[in-house]
Amino acid sequence: MEIRFIKINKLQENKSIVFLINKDVDLSKYNFSDTELNYIKTKINSDEKHITINQYTHFVYLQIVDKKEQDYQINESLRKEAYKLCKHIKENKIDSITIANLTNNEQAIVSFAEGLALSNYDFIRYKNPEKEKTIYLTEINLFCNKLEPRQVERLQISTDAVYLSRDLINEPVSFLTSEQLATEIQKIGKDAGFNVEVFNKKKIETLRMGGLLAVNKGSVDPPTFSILEWKPEYAKNRKPIILVGKGIVYDTGGLSLKPTKSMDTMKSDMSGAAAVIGTLYAISKAKLPVHVIGLIPSTDNRPNGNAYTPGDVITMHNGLTVEVLNTDAEGRMILADALSYAKQYKPELVVDIATLTGAAAVAIGGYGIVAMGTADEKIFDTLKQSGNNVYERIVEFPFWDEYDELLKSDIADIKNIGGRDAGAITAGKFLEHFTDYPYVHLDIAGPAFIQKEDSYRGKGGTGVGVRLLFDYFKSIV
Ligand code: BES
Ligand code: ZN
Ligand code: ZN
Repeated sequence: MEIRFIKINKLQENKSIVFLINKDVDLSKYNFSDTELNYIKTKINSDEKHITINQYTHFVYLQIVDKKEQDYQINESLRKEAYKLCKHIKENKIDSITIANLTNNEQAIVSFAEGLALSNYDFIRYKNPEKEKTIYLTEINLFCNKLEPRQVERLQISTDAVYLSRDLINEPVSFLTSEQLATEIQKIGKDAGFNVEVFNKKKIETLRMGGLLAVNKGSVDPPTFSILEWKPEYAKNRKPIILVGKGIVYDTGGLSLKPTKSMDTMKSDMSGAAAVIGTLYAISKAKLPVHVIGLIPSTDNRPNGNAYTPGDVITMHNGLTVEVLNTDAEGRMILADALSYAKQYKPELVVDIATLTGAAAVAIGGYGIVAMGTADEKIFDTLKQSGNNVYERIVEFPFWDEYDELLKSDIADIKNIGGRDAGAITAGKFLEHFTDYPYVHLDIAGPAFIQKEDSYRGKGGTGVGVRLLFDYFKSIV
């Protein structure tokens, strides 16, 4: 279900509206009765942030925009306030709302509108709309002189991209097999204007992607390897930036089978792929002057008849041998082949994004993204800045050589697990073996999928990474 943003230049009467205001606002121009104005004043003086007036044909809301130390904190608190408003809007089945920005900060209306739209998301494909309707709001009108059409357009694009990414994550494997994922990528590419090439199992075998093929051995569905490319003539980078997304459409753990409870959410193990797809969608819709390639290795991970086993030695795409000691560490097996494949592009930078380790989630919870890698500190700083802007915050973990010692194998070049210590880092160090370029690894195991509704991030797939990477690309071009 989509939501449309429309810039308006005149306020319509009898329509639900939310005014974004500073405490010292002058509301005399806006059709309030004296009683209402007095009511508003009292509320503001008693430090209320959110005021609701029921005008019977419609609602009028007022939202105080507070001052905070950092702009990004104001923006985040507005997204969260918009989530609260969204609850009220849903209860009252409002289908169209206007946001009128009476502050002189146009970012305020963008963040508030974004929070509202993201809160309004629901995955309804498998619900009977006659029995249960959860989405009413389909239109957000934006009233703000300073707002440029391009800002509205980009807000629309980024919201659509997050919706699209959430939809993919929320789709169960009963629909979204690896081949189906590739089909969805092709559809999305057509719509957004980026190029898509999909490798089938035969091609993957010819390329000797041993990691992807090993994980796929326990599956009855073939693997896919999708290449997404946005390459405008006017691109500012000479060498491409590559995004690699983990596309495990379902992770049972394989023979190192997960316990039932840990498996419940494992349809979300392609959230990295969903982030890459959403980002490619956004940058090509926005026609950003940047050459970006997305690589998505994909399979499910199952313990079927011929499944790869603990003890197996696998020869990877780059020729390195890997001793498998836990088949549940499958993400790194498929990502490794994609990272090795990326070398031929001589990329300026490669960023992988993956629900890679429970250890990352244990370390910082669902509140942020664990990052590490070999790229320049400047790149990490820019990414962290974007992380704050969109509030998908990034924490950088150490990437010291010593961690690599934990991956030594008795019989192969390396093994696929490091042991109990520093699980998120040894996963990253494993991947480093397959790179020869500036590299960033983003582990989104914590924030990718949430089981209890969390403000505008919703419930289920969050689409984390899409707004982050879109903001990153906007900031470097
Ligand atoms: N997909 C999981 C990681 C995960 C866990 C994502 C929880 C989201 C929530 C990954 O494939 C995995 O199972 N990793 C193992 C690695 C271990 C065997 C070294 C893990 O974290 O337990
Ligand atoms: Zn796993
Ligand atoms: Zn996994």
